[in-house]
Amino acid sequence: MACLPILTAPDPRLKQKAVRVERVDPALVQLMDDMLETMYAAPGIGLAAPQVGVGKRVVVLDIGKTEEERAPLCMANPEIVWVSDDDNTYEEGCLSVPEHYAQVVRPRAVRVRYLDRENEIREIEADGLLATVIQHELDHLDGVLFIDHLSALKRNMILRKLTKARRDAAPAAR
Ligand code: NI
Repeated sequence: MACLPILTAPDPRLKQKAVRVERVDPALVQLMDDMLETMYAAPGIGLAAPQVGVGKRVVVLDIGKTEEERAPLCMANPEIVWVSDDDNTYEEGCLSVPEHYAQVVRPRAVRVRYLDRENEIREIEADGLLATVIQHELDHLDGVLFIDHLSALKRNMILRKLTKARRDAAPAAR
């Protein structure tokens, strides 16, 4: 396995729509494993392939709080097939929007259909934090970040800070 570099906003690759995979083959399982390692190392509870510069509809997630509670989910071509009428609000963050957090309102529960690591079609229902993480990660596949759910004022403030942080971190000579 390998740890992959994570892109941060406003990288244009984070705004692109990812393409469906044909099938989950050994190379794609390798990508899922690398994404899991990257996510655990960050640490984070979800990661989408576009965040590591791969424009494929693949996400990994795990809301386990400790190593013992780990229960990784790997999804290719995930699709939300049902959402609840009622909403939940969570304070969200993102490995591609480091050090910024904001309240986002999303449906409380979802049902998602996807291809698992064995290329089998699965469907699960999730609510609470897991439902929020699934929706957050699936957004990434359509080039949507959690800050896109905020007002333009808040979003632009965060993007300005991220751009400045990146400029400050960059070497002087370019
Ligand atoms: Ni994210």
